[in-house]
Amino acid sequence: MSKELIKKASKRFETIIKEQLQRVEEMKKPVSMPDYATLSPIIIGICWGDGIGEIISKHAQKVLEYVLKDEAAKGKITFKDIKGLTIENRAKHKKAIPDDVLTEIKSCHVILKGPTTTPQAGDKWPNIESANVAMRRYLDLFANVRPVRIPHKGINWCFFRENTEGAYVLGSKGFDVSDDLSIDFKVITEQGAERIIRMAFEYAKKNNIDKVTVVTKSNVVKTTDGRFSRVAFRIAKEYPGIKLDEWYIDIMTAKLIDPARRKDFKVMVLPNLYGDILTDEAAQMQGGVGTAGSANIGQKWSMFEAIHGSAPRMVKEGRAKYADPCSMIRASAMLLRHIGFNKKAQKIEMALDVCGQFEKKMAITGRDTGVTGEEYTAYLLSWVDNPGLKARWEQGIKAASGA
Ligand code: IPM
Ligand code: MG
Repeated sequence: MSKELIKKASKRFETIIKEQLQRVEEMKKPVSMPDYATLSPIIIGICWGDGIGEIISKHAQKVLEYVLKDEAAKGKITFKDIKGLTIENRAKHKKAIPDDVLTEIKSCHVILKGPTTTPQAGDKWPNIESANVAMRRYLDLFANVRPVRIPHKGINWCFFRENTEGAYVLGSKGFDVSDDLSIDFKVITEQGAERIIRMAFEYAKKNNIDKVTVVTKSNVVKTTDGRFSRVAFRIAKEYPGIKLDEWYIDIMTAKLIDPARRKDFKVMVLPNLYGDILTDEAAQMQGGVGTAGSANIGQKWSMFEAIHGSAPRMVKEGRAKYADPCSMIRASAMLLRHIGFNKKAQKIEMALDVCGQFEKKMAITGRDTGVTGEEYTAYLLSWVDNPGLKARWEQGIKAASGA
């Protein structure tokens, strides 16, 4: 065993610990969220992404611009076009987010972000960090909020995925200690766990939900998951009307597809990687990852995106124009809700349900057996301001639940 190797590895570990302790100090500082009601203009940045990202974000932008046309005309809303978050440009700069792009992003209040390619060892790109993961960290977007609703099955889940710690925060800092030994790190902090768990409880309280489920593997991953679970039980004491349940991630993935149990879950809070995995499973049940949106909330900025990647396979097979834009359109609705335009958000969400689950006049299949994203967006827009939208939505819910 080489003393030199151990020394080198210890040095790297020391740097990581110092950085994380520094991060904890940052999290202890008080911060206040922007008040969007008084903020003017609210700057919405749009990052196009790559692969199918560019195409489906254009469709989402069209919907967003349509519902915000009056506010944009009055100067309450400004759109900012942010180029340069493409894999080509990121590869050129060998950075997850090139500096000038990051400056542009930081000059906005909220961001709509198209899927971006995450390089992996062996492909044609330099193995740089994921742009999503980097953006979440640079902007401290600690809460990844992912709702999944299947109204006629009584499913109404909201996942609160911790977004800046867990297996992700040091994902690009793991290292090969020797030719044979590789080490990655997983981090949970008291402050990081508390802020996401508190958000989940606040959501439950606001929506009159009497149960929060914390998902861990704290019986095995005792230190980090152990802390996450402990913090959850500590916070729960502040919410006497809300019961906290702990489930382990393995059995949770099973119970999520158990028709007898799945309706019982409402609000779930989980460390980063478990949240990543479980929300893909949940989205698949809603109709596919292409149907789900994701909010990345921080104290200063917030970013809204699809829950899936840039689908390079679809692009390679010439199917990009058939990609489902609903994930990005749902993300736009979440953005609208976040900045206080609840009614506009609701209209988009109802139109998504009517088109995707009830009327189903057009189908999007990801290939030429269905319509293109452009055609589907036009179909959706035809419902957004339709005076019959609410009645059609209510009728759809009634019929589907067999009432
Ligand atoms: C997600 C995605 C990302 C993640 C990828 C693209 C890095 O899967 O948003 O869930 O792992 O977080
Ligand atoms: Mg994921």
